[in-house]
Amino acid sequence: MRVMVAGATSVPGIALLRELNRRGHDVVGLTSRPEKTPQIEQEGAKPVVADVFDRRHLDSVMTDIEPEVVVSLLTTLPKYGPKRIKDFEPARKLWGQGAPNLFAAAQHAGVRRIVAESVMFAYGYPTSGPAMMDESDPYPGPPPKGGEAMLAALRGMEQAVLTSGEHSDTEGIVLRYGAFYGPGVPHDELFVRLAKWWALPAMTGPGIASWIHIDDVATATAEALGKGRGGQIYNIVDDRPQPFAGYVRELSAKVGRPRPLPVSHRLVGLVASYPATAFGATWLPLSNAKAKAELGWTPVPRV
Ligand SMILES: NC(=O)c1ccc[n+]([C@@H]2O[C@H](COP(=O)([O-])OP(=O)(O)OC[C@H]3O[C@@H](n4cnc5c(N)ncnc54)[C@H](OP(=O)(O)O)[C@@H]3O)[C@@H](O)[C@H]2O)c1
Repeated sequence: MRVMVAGATSVPGIALLRELNRRGHDVVGLTSRPEKTPQIEQEGAKPVVADVFDRRHLDSVMTDIEPEVVVSLLTTLPKYGPKRIKDFEPARKLWGQGAPNLFAAAQHAGVRRIVAESVMFAYGYPTSGPAMMDESDPYPGPPPKGGEAMLAALRGMEQAVLTSGEHSDTEGIVLRYGAFYGPGVPHDELFVRLAKWWALPAMTGPGIASWIHIDDVATATAEALGKGRGGQIYNIVDDRPQPFAGYVRELSAKVGRPRPLPVSHRLVGLVASYPATAFGATWLPLSNAKAKAELGWTPVPRV
């Protein structure tokens, strides 16, 4: 199948190019920066250079390439993740204007399907909820403080994908990924490096997050290309939702370090308000049952 991956050079993009190439797909990776084309070629995909804010150019690229499926991995965040709401500003623009341009170009060219990256925080930032949350209530939580526009842009991007099949021949699927971990994920690699020298700070708080190894992101996304149902959201998370402190404890144990140092999310909030809310106080234990049942996918057990 010919697949165009926008955001091909992102953390999940590189893993996905590798997986699609392994499965024998004809893969084209989109980048806005000519100097990044070797990264795409290295993973066995053909690079194409286009900026998603340039709708006219996107139209001509899409018509030339004629992909069957377009995957959008368009997010743009600081290398080690957002610390404050203002760090989402470029991503807000990308979700609000760039990604919709890509979807419109795909519809215009008669692409069969769009598969788009979203994130568990599209559910919002609830501070309590059921023991396991599925996709049946798409928006149960409020935005974080000051994050109304950011969350509205993310949810607007999702809605553009989910409703695509209602007014075009292009059906859309949304994948809500958990927090990434594994090789090539910058914060994970930073923690591994730091853990060799220090006991890591393990942020504590009442929140629970859902997690996903970057290789499982690639396999789930590859399965969604053929097996996902149009207009549907799938949680792409592993089997073990856990608090941030649990993630740090596991990572420390893997590199043979002593127990990490507990640090309250309130203290973290003084220097990094966003992660303190998102990973210290937000309740998002997501179920992957729908992805397992419908995509025939299962995350690899890693402990
Ligand atoms: N679920 C999660 O845990 C999650 C999700 C996303 C990100 N993150 C984290 O956030 C950090 C940054 O990751 P990231 O993947 O967002 O960063 P990134 O490396 O900046 O990736 C953004 C992708 O979007 C593309 N892009 C941006 N603007 C574009 C434009 N105007 N036209 C075409 N393509 C455009 C970029 O392509 P070019 O630069 O090649 O043009 C790039 O491939 C990492 O630490 C990552 O682990 C975590």
